[in-house]
Amino acid sequence: MFSPEIVRVLACPVCHFPLSATPGRLGCPNQHHFDLSRWGHVHLSRGRIPSGDTAAMVQARLRFLARGHFAPLADTLASIVACRPPTYIVDVGAGPGYYLASLVDRSPTSSGIAVDVSRHAARQAARVHPRIASVVADHHRLPLRDDAIDLVTCVFAPRDPSELHRVLRTTGRCLVVTPSPSHLSELRGRYGGLAIEPNKRERLLRTFAPWFELARTTQLELSLCLTPEDIADALAMGPAAFHPDRIAAPASESLQTTAAFAIFELVPRPVARAVR
Ligand SMILES: C[S@@+](CC[C@H](N)C(=O)[O-])C[C@H]1O[C@@H](n2cnc3c(N)ncnc32)[C@H](O)[C@@H]1O
Ligand SMILES: [Zn+2]
Repeated sequence: MFSPEIVRVLACPVCHFPLSATPGRLGCPNQHHFDLSRWGHVHLSRGRIPSGDTAAMVQARLRFLARGHFAPLADTLASIVACRPPTYIVDVGAGPGYYLASLVDRSPTSSGIAVDVSRHAARQAARVHPRIASVVADHHRLPLRDDAIDLVTCVFAPRDPSELHRVLRTTGRCLVVTPSPSHLSELRGRYGGLAIEPNKRERLLRTFAPWFELARTTQLELSLCLTPEDIADALAMGPAAFHPDRIAAPASESLQTTAAFAIFELVPRPVARAVR
C-alpha cells in the first residue's frame, strides 16, 4: 500500500523530484503522473525496461515458496536484521515479495518497497503485506530518493551497487543473497538447468568494492527432499525456465538435494556521488 510514509521516499522516475499521492495516482511537481494499477502496484519507470519473470515463473515461485522450503533463509535474514530494525526496507528484484513480507512482518515499525521489472511479480507483491508497496522499475534506476533507505535486500536478483549506495542512508546496509556453487546441484545434475558461476562471490565483491565494504558473510545449507511437484516448480521458477530445451523430462520421483546460499552483509563506504 502506498502509505504517506512510503510515498515520502519515492522519487519521480522522469525528473527525480519527490512524488506525492492523490487518489489513484502518484505525481511530481513537474506534472509527471503514474496511475496505480487495479492490482495495487505502480509502474515507476522511464522508457523501455526488461520484462523480467513471466507469469508462469512467478506462479511456480509462489507455489514453491508456499511449501516452506526456503523459510529458513527468510528466518536467517530476519535474525541478521533483528539487531537494528529498519524503518524502510527495499527489496530489489523482489519477485512475489516473500522475503520482504517476512522482514516487514517481524518489524512492526518498518515499511517495505518491492521493486521488480516483472509486472506479474509486482501484482503478487502488491498484496503480500499491508505495509509493502509494489513498484515496477529497473534496478539500474530505482524510483527512490537519495539517502532514504535503511536496508536494501537483493535475493537471487540483479543489482547495481552504485544505485543501491545512492538510495541507502550512510547508516544503512545491504543484504545480498546468492546461490553458492553447490546450490541444488543434485537437481541440476539430474534435470538440467543453468550452472552457477564458480567465482560468483569474487565477482560480486569486486563490483561492490568501490561502494560497499563487506561486513559479514553467512553461509546457509538446507537439506531438502523435493517431490516431483517441487522439482517441476524449482525448474520452472528459475532462470532455466528461459531455456526449456536444457531441462530434462518431468520428474516422477522425489529427490534429495541441498540448497546452499551465501548472504553478504555490506555497509556503504563514504564515497562522493555523481550529481544527477
Ligand atoms: C530469481 S528471481 C528472485 C525473486 C525473489 N527475490 C525471490 O527470491 O523470491 C529474480 C527477480 O528479479 C527480477 N528482475 C530481473 N531483471 C530485473 C531488473 N533489471 N530490475 C529489477 N528486477 C529484475 C525478475 O523479474 C525476478 O522477479
Ligand atoms: Zn517528474
